[in-house]
Amino acid sequence: MAERELEGRRIIVTGAGSGMGRAIATLFAEHGARQTLFDINADGLAALQIDNADTMVVDMANRESVLAATEAAATAMGSIDGLVNAAGILRVVPFAETTPDVWHEVMGVNLHGPYYLCHAALPHLKQADKATIVNISSLAGLIAPEGMTAYAATKAGLIGLTRVLAADLGPRIRANAIAPGVIKTAMTLGMVQGSSSGVDEMGLGNMMRRPGTPEEIAELALFLSSERSSFINGTTTAIDGGASWH
Ligand SMILES: NC(=O)c1ccc[n+]([C@@H]2O[C@H](COP(=O)([O-])OP(=O)(O)OC[C@H]3O[C@@H](n4cnc5c(N)ncnc54)[C@H](O)[C@@H]3O)[C@@H](O)[C@H]2O)c1
Repeated sequence: MAERELEGRRIIVTGAGSGMGRAIATLFAEHGARQTLFDINADGLAALQIDNADTMVVDMANRESVLAATEAAATAMGSIDGLVNAAGILRVVPFAETTPDVWHEVMGVNLHGPYYLCHAALPHLKQADKATIVNISSLAGLIAPEGMTAYAATKAGLIGLTRVLAADLGPRIRANAIAPGVIKTAMTLGMVQGSSSGVDEMGLGNMMRRPGTPEEIAELALFLSSERSSFINGTTTAIDGGASWH
């Protein structure tokens, strides 16, 4: 194997019970990270087989839950010098039907959650020589996807939050966002349930003519969390097979 990029690093990954979060946690473990893995889904966490990692059931939309788990993670790992915010939910609801309940539910997980975690972890991140934050935004934060009212607003908001984190916390803490296109996970499988088109068909709109895989996203999360990206800060990288520029 290539060099272990995250040896000695102590990282929290949210949404680790499924999809991209799980792929990221798996790759980070292969690269020597000590991790604490958050998810609201206890079954998803229980099914993980990841070295050198604790799991915690956390509701990212609940500030108290995030604060308690972050402190417990810092104690268990000694400190925290990396975060990956991958937990998220998708509700495809056109603007006219977006009730306050839908709006607040999506905001809670996708935007408040990363804010709660970054804020709670800040005293620990500040103690590190070099710390990293990676936020999983979306193609939906870059373009205007029909019916993704609250979701698109949270993902664009996460890009804005990432820029401010980079500006306010640099140079010892770097923050970058990833904007995936259609990726084959439980989230997209949920979107096509009951329809004749599958996730593979959803991927046909990009230049690779396929959906991406969680492992492809994990490679970028690894790069942005490692010293290989030492001069990259405040950016959002689309990883979408070319969907966002064509
Ligand atoms: N799949 C895609 O095509 C796609 C595209 C762009 C962006 N994204 C984003 O990527 C991230 C990962 O999504 P995925 O595709 O792996 O989906 P996924 O559904 O496989 O994984 C999301 C995880 O987040 C967890 N989660 C949900 N609500 C939570 C809460 N309140 N507290 C803690 N954990 C919670 C879920 O239990 C799940 O394990 C999300 O932020 C999503 O918005 C996904």
